[in-house]
Amino acid sequence: MHDKIQNLIREIREVKAQSLDDVEQLRLKYLSKKGLVTVLFDDFKSVPPELKREMGQMLNQLKGEAQHKIESLKADFEEKAENAEKTSDLTRPVSLEPGTRHPLSIVRNQIIDIFSHIGFTVAVGPEIEDDWHNFSALNFTPDHPARDMQDTFFLTRDPDILLRTHTSSVQIRTMEQSQPPIRSIFPGRVFRNEVISARAHCIFHQVEGLYIDKNVSFADLKQTLLYFAKEMFGETTQIRLRPSYFPFTEPSGEMDVSCNICGGKGCNICKYTGWVEILGCGMVDPNVLENCGIDPEIYTGFAFGMGIERITMLKYQIKDLRLFFENDVRFLKQFQG
Ligand code: PHE
Repeated sequence: MHDKIQNLIREIREVKAQSLDDVEQLRLKYLSKKGLVTVLFDDFKSVPPELKREMGQMLNQLKGEAQHKIESLKADFEEKAENAEKTSDLTRPVSLEPGTRHPLSIVRNQIIDIFSHIGFTVAVGPEIEDDWHNFSALNFTPDHPARDMQDTFFLTRDPDILLRTHTSSVQIRTMEQSQPPIRSIFPGRVFRNEVISARAHCIFHQVEGLYIDKNVSFADLKQTLLYFAKEMFGETTQIRLRPSYFPFTEPSGEMDVSCNICGGKGCNICKYTGWVEILGCGMVDPNVLENCGIDPEIYTGFAFGMGIERITMLKYQIKDLRLFFENDVRFLKQFQG
């Protein structure tokens, strides 16, 4: 019996088939009720007890190999048949629906486009950051209260490694690596430990901008942002700047655009004020320039940062930010870009 099993295993390993019919013949020959393998199982009853263990194992191996071989031969032929069917009829209609870009990608690309027209290049940086690039170099002193407001996800403490809370970290990396003139925008994903709601998420996207050169003034900042707002929301869009505070800019401001939904008359999107806030901005603090090896006596610059979700919600009148992360195709299909 031992030899019989060995021979059958060898035979089955070598076996070949030319068609699905051949495969079926092989199945009958080995695995059907009267098949060679099945019959050996019947013989097993007469194997002396001391050999049962070894023979049992061999029989199981034989059966396993035979089943596997026949299955894989069958799969080969089925796949071939399917491929032949696919390529033979070139007039068959395509059933796949083309995909669409995610609304956040559409708006991000649009922002990049708008700024590239006035000479801004694009730079990216890591999502996992150290304390220096996310906080310290940006003029957040160790006990600065604004650190608290960033709801940071820390990966390790001491040294502090964290998920970046804003793309301002890429501002620092860019200034460390190059000398002015610098004119770049930094799109990317950022993370904050916020309760998820219609208006906030723990993951979101920002685009930050930075312009450093000799004689860059607040007027340049204002004009750049006005250009952006008109390109993004339409020629009649107005902007207004309100004083604000960020550790890395001085003076700092927040920019509102006139509500493009009610045209400034007041609606629930602008909370009946006619204005919606879209970004933070300011003149880069001299300490930040110094931290990055740029002489603040010679150079000045401005920075701004905006949330892509917020701009997308305004542009398409989307009321719940969570829709961006659910990837429901019924939602995604509505955007073309
Ligand atoms: N980094 C700020 C934020 O995430 C935005 C900002 C960028 C403000 C650049 C001023 C200048 O809230």
